[in-house]
Amino acid sequence: MAIIIEPFRIKSVEPIHFTTFEQRKQILADSFYNLFLIKSDDVLIDLLTDSGTGAMSSKQWASIMLGDESYAGSPSYYKFESVMKKITGFKHIIPTHQGRAAEKIIYSILGGKGKYFVSNTFFDTTRGNIEYTGAEAYDFLTEEGKIPHVEAPFKGNIDLPSLEKFILEKGPENIPLCVMTITNNSGGGQPVSMQNMKETAVLCKKYGILFFLDACRFAENACFIKMREPSYESKSILEIAQECFQLAVGGTMSAKKDALVNIGGWLALNDNELAQQARNMLIMTEGFPTYGGLAGRDLEAMAQGLIESMDEDYLKYRLRSIEYMGEKLTAVGIPIIRPTGGHALYIDAKAFLSHIPSHHLPGVALVNELYLLGGIRGVEIGSLMFGKYDDNKAPIAPPMELVRLAIPRRVYTQTHIDYVIEKIIEVYENRRNLRGYEIIYESPLLRHFTARLKPI
Ligand code: F0G
Repeated sequence: MAIIIEPFRIKSVEPIHFTTFEQRKQILADSFYNLFLIKSDDVLIDLLTDSGTGAMSSKQWASIMLGDESYAGSPSYYKFESVMKKITGFKHIIPTHQGRAAEKIIYSILGGKGKYFVSNTFFDTTRGNIEYTGAEAYDFLTEEGKIPHVEAPFKGNIDLPSLEKFILEKGPENIPLCVMTITNNSGGGQPVSMQNMKETAVLCKKYGILFFLDACRFAENACFIKMREPSYESKSILEIAQECFQLAVGGTMSAKKDALVNIGGWLALNDNELAQQARNMLIMTEGFPTYGGLAGRDLEAMAQGLIESMDEDYLKYRLRSIEYMGEKLTAVGIPIIRPTGGHALYIDAKAFLSHIPSHHLPGVALVNELYLLGGIRGVEIGSLMFGKYDDNKAPIAPPMELVRLAIPRRVYTQTHIDYVIEKIIEVYENRRNLRGYEIIYESPLLRHFTARLKPI
């Protein structure tokens, strides 16, 4: 394959911080072996998340100077609104400070006890915002999406027969909304096909259920459709994105992902009455409808970022850099979720450290060793994040023990990626010597953020 290079050159640089093995050993102990508790200055390559960590372009920085900070009716809002209308076609464009703020608004309006929401896979904050209203959230991911090593082009697809069965069981009148998460973050950044979105839209229409997109990574999803779905290879990313938004009647987005900004989000709707209610709530929680929870300059950067997110050279480089990482690791037998997704590489920690049982947190052992050896920060998505206890306080493990290495947009070069690959391989060669961890403190909710751990 011809080499795909970074489609940018660097105008402003930011130093990264080197530490020694001995220093990292101390830092890990001081932070109770939880990488959320270490200072980012002590990290060399930070792959904790792709959210809000991207690099803005010179055009985005220039547009920041054009930000108009008027409280009402700012031209920066109208610029953002016009870009959004062009891409999505949605009638009402409501800015929010990030994705979960948009979720809070829409699910507060539509949620409540006795309501069910359905998705390919809900992201944690989305599920949280639904459950907070007393409603319930259900995922219907296709079977192939649940098996890490199965190669399939669209492992983010929704399982339509199961979804329809559920709709008939619970009654469509109790299901206000179906959300397609593109790409499917919790399932490995896997894309959803246009075909699957079309069929879901038809099903939702049949039962009078609103069809929504969680569009955080819509451009990466569109690029996968272009590369993998028959009849889309000659369409532009914009055309594919437009086609996919037109299937839905609304959506939410964390602009901290594909829109290439460090803060921002939106809620978009076609329904006039729903939009009115959402704006009323926005005024209570975020701000006036022409700025949401943002500054005018943020709206400018977001408008420009949305345009840049659909650049094909950029998207191909981005998907390729993650695929490249996957190829190098697979070649030496390291188990990962395959094929690689759009924003992150997921290592199957259960298979990687098969001698460490789930309740000794193999994902934590892996992320901590990567930090110790290479100063690299990833995140465990396994028993620490999602584990529960049964009535006798025995741990219940989630189906998978994963480690996510999320790649910030336009931040690291191929040499950084090569360094990460080298360190993962080093950890793999030494895997038999790794030990598990036990929890010595945990909070009742979202324990992974603040847990204190101890090596076994
Ligand atoms: N939906 C998806 C699919 C997400 O991945 C996220 C955030 C959100 C909604 C919430 O958006 O953070 O702006 O409020 N994902 C981040 C991550 C945090 O690391 O994957 P937010």
